Amino acid sequence: MTTISLILNGKARTSTVLPRDTLAGYLRDGCQLTGTHLGCEHGACGACTVLLDGEPVRSCIVLAVTADAREVQSIEGLRDDAIMVLLRKAFHEAHALQCGFCTPGMLITARDILRRHHAPDETLIRRELAGQICRCTGYVGIVEAIRCAGAELAATPQPIE
Ligand code: FES
Ligand code: FES
Repeated sequence: MTTISLILNGKARTSTVLPRDTLAGYLRDGCQLTGTHLGCEHGACGACTVLLDGEPVRSCIVLAVTADAREVQSIEGLRDDAIMVLLRKAFHEAHALQCGFCTPGMLITARDILRRHHAPDETLIRRELAGQICRCTGYVGIVEAIRCAGAELAATPQPIE
């Protein structure tokens, strides 16, 4: 067993993990943060996306020990994030989910897109979403939701961090 200490969703946490434990397994089973979904479990679908030091990673192929002395944010930790608030509203209005299985990873990736691109258009959003798989929606609502949230963010007088 290995002891790790990290900042998880803004709070310091120390845990004991096995060297083979994935970050996704640690979040779900060790921390009861089940908003991190597991789809393919080999890095292909993006359902398990979380932020590691602010960058999106596929937590099914990241070992939990990698998170030692680092900062992890799961979908639960982004509840009050300003961009995420815009995105949740946009996903609701654009009917951007059906079963919701892909949605946590999709939202975290969408937030990353909006942090890196000013008012992205459909072409750019589709290219950026290439690694996120949704088996239900056909992507039209998801792309529209991110476009709308990006347009709203661009029209916001104060930049949102
Ligand atoms: S469950 Fe991690 S990428 Fe699919
Ligand atoms: S809404 Fe079902 S997988 Fe995307």
